[in-house]
Amino acid sequence: MRVFVTGATGFIGSAIVQELMGAGHQVLGLTRSDAGAKWLADTGAEVHRGDLDNLESLRSGAEKSDGVIHCAFNHDFSKFVANCEADRAAIEALGTGLIGSDKPLVITSGTGHNSSGQPRTEEDALVPSSVNPRGASEEAGLSVLAKGVNVSVMRLPQVHNREKAGLITYIKALAQEKGVSAYIGDGLNRWPAVHLLDTAHLYRLALEKGRAGSRYHAVGEEGVSFRKIAEAIGKKMNIPVVSKSSEEAGAHFSWLNLFAALDMPASSTLTQERLGWHPTRISLLEDLES
Ligand SMILES: NC(=O)c1ccc[n+]([C@@H]2O[C@H](COP(=O)([O-])OP(=O)(O)OC[C@H]3O[C@@H](n4cnc5c(N)ncnc54)[C@H](OP(=O)(O)O)[C@@H]3O)[C@@H](O)[C@H]2O)c1
Repeated sequence: MRVFVTGATGFIGSAIVQELMGAGHQVLGLTRSDAGAKWLADTGAEVHRGDLDNLESLRSGAEKSDGVIHCAFNHDFSKFVANCEADRAAIEALGTGLIGSDKPLVITSGTGHNSSGQPRTEEDALVPSSVNPRGASEEAGLSVLAKGVNVSVMRLPQVHNREKAGLITYIKALAQEKGVSAYIGDGLNRWPAVHLLDTAHLYRLALEKGRAGSRYHAVGEEGVSFRKIAEAIGKKMNIPVVSKSSEEAGAHFSWLNLFAALDMPASSTLTQERLGWHPTRISLLEDLES
């Protein structure tokens, strides 16, 4: 299959590019930079120059391909709402390039959280963009599904390898800056996680075997307590691990305070059954301590 990958130069997208090529697919990778184009060419992929803001470049990339994986996202959190709306427009444009075909489009979202304490499942409906701006991505997925596009959603937790771990990357940087690794209250709130290489494999399975309208959860671990995460960071950096009250947390976590107290367990039981995916790589804590 010739697969158009957006975000092909990013943390997750670059692992997907390698997973796809290793399985014999051709990749057409979106990039906006010379460095990205060089990396793609060196990897053996075709280069598609474009930008998330250039919707025509997205539509034409989708049109030229046999399937699309959409991983590009602007992670400037100071413009989060605008970036989520840009993702909506990007998914609509990719969908436009696929209308009238059965070619698969896999888009990206988050596993999110609910207040019940129960793990979120693939059956849980999207969180609307009026509640969480990132809901725009899944709303756009439903919109292109209604136009007959073979779209599925990949919901991600914290995706880790030795170098990065989603939002935990920023939490590590804060711990380094402040000289303490912190959690809030008893720190028993849980964050789900998955290894980067298991994630890339699951995107390929969703592309090859996914069904229109499905939601998949790339969850390797349902929920690691925030306290354990803080302890692993403290151990690795050799700094104290401290509990902060909710009143103190804002000063430590800054913009991440919105997330640090969230309990966000998520399950991948249905994804594993439906796609035959079984995550096998090392755990979040092993990566944080390695
Ligand atoms: N990492 C996680 O743990 C995690 C967790 C939940 C959800 N997600 C979601 O998973 C997806 C991939 O995340 P990631 O961690 O791989 O992100 P990343 O490393 O920041 O990569 C983002 C990719 O998007 C591209 N991009 C950004 N702005 C662009 C623009 N204006 N035009 C074209 N390309 C643009 C980047 O290209 P350049 O190389 O040119 O910058 C890069 O290839 C995103 O939707 C993200 O929100 C990730």
